[in-house]
Amino acid sequence: MTQPKSDLSLRVLVVGSGGREHALARAIAADPAVTQVHVAPGNPGTAAFASNHPVAATDPDAVAALARELDVNLVVVGPEAPLVAGVADAVRAAGIACFGPSKAAAQLEGSKAFAKQVMAAAGVPTAASRYCTTPDEAAAALAEFGAPHVVKDDGLAAGKGVIVTDDVEEAQAHADACEAVVIEEYLDGPEVSLFVITDGTTALAMQPAQDFKRVGDDDTGPNTGGMGAYSPLPWAPADLQQQVLDQVALPTIAEMERRGTPFQGLLYCGLALTSRGLRVVEFNTRFGDPETQALLALTDSPMGQVLYAAATGTLAEVGDLTWRDDYAVTVVMAADGYPGKPETGGSIVLPPDAEDAWTIQAGTALDGDNLVAAGGRVLAVVGRGADLREARGVAYEHLVQIDFPTGFHRYDIAETAAIQQIEEGS
Ligand code: AMP
Ligand code: GLY
Repeated sequence: MTQPKSDLSLRVLVVGSGGREHALARAIAADPAVTQVHVAPGNPGTAAFASNHPVAATDPDAVAALARELDVNLVVVGPEAPLVAGVADAVRAAGIACFGPSKAAAQLEGSKAFAKQVMAAAGVPTAASRYCTTPDEAAAALAEFGAPHVVKDDGLAAGKGVIVTDDVEEAQAHADACEAVVIEEYLDGPEVSLFVITDGTTALAMQPAQDFKRVGDDDTGPNTGGMGAYSPLPWAPADLQQQVLDQVALPTIAEMERRGTPFQGLLYCGLALTSRGLRVVEFNTRFGDPETQALLALTDSPMGQVLYAAATGTLAEVGDLTWRDDYAVTVVMAADGYPGKPETGGSIVLPPDAEDAWTIQAGTALDGDNLVAAGGRVLAVVGRGADLREARGVAYEHLVQIDFPTGFHRYDIAETAAIQQIEEGS
């Protein structure tokens, strides 16, 4: 990383209110070039070190007006909903640099069918698929690909619109309940999340991470937004970042540019490392949650400056991201009932953050002076250690100090990989 330009003084507005935004704001605040951090709307966790502003993240005009009023020179949009609503377009129209794709480019996440078209045009390896809008089309596609069946709601569904099942009736019922679905071939092999920061031309890959999508231990129960994550992956090929840049990210970025809708922001490459090579499972157009909490615990790069460079088309001047040698594990605490209807209002008492273990807040609120649960995924605990076993230990030891009686968590985040790392001495 080149040294910060000495005259660069970054005033940053982070848009969103979840764990990803808390982690981003925290990392941005640690950058010496950053003089102010604002969050809209933020949560009680971000209020501890940044200024929260009660503005709806999905209201493009309100976010742009706030950015002008605060006189920030960088806006970082966290979640997908504001991107799909056009928040980045409104901020850029106001003359302010924005990290995050335009409404048009965010369709890479907003529509599974659009993402498939772009991948086909760019020659990006992904599962064969059919776009279906009627029960008959869905039935034909389910028969064509066979079990296990993969049925994806075409619209945004917060990570919960996909079902993978051996039961053809369940698959058909999900298709019938959605207006349009993408039905595709099943991909075997482990999943990897690989995040690529891009200014529309130049791309920087972050370390690979893995998240845990199912609600229960041993990957049981329904899909969620993510119940935990870890990074890096001791078992992943050493050249995975380069493979993903060459085979996935750069061709996709070039294709988006060719279409006149350049992609600038974070391209989340959700991958399966199958027996036939890497395949894209999905694209998202923003940092993944909770992988981001683990990744930002490990990078030494000044994130305010990196995101500003991506937002201003100067990423080529930034060297590769730099990483600590250790490992990070994130464990999510969700409210009872999640991913169905979560029980809100439960009280939470947090221990103080430590050097290698801390809490990121996601769905929290203040009730008077008391911290309470206000969403599905409520908290994320991050632990860092020399290997995965140590990082898990640090994370779970911190977690048991949290008093949150109406919350639950998975016990097995990064467990298999930690055992494998010890056995293989990798
Ligand atoms: P998506 O929202 O597309 O990431 O899908 C959510 C989850 O469903 C993924 O993380 C996978 O675990 C699973 N999934 C999606 N597509 C496939 C596929 N083609 N084959 C196997 N599993 C899949
Ligand atoms: N961790 C999955 C996601 O952010 O969609």
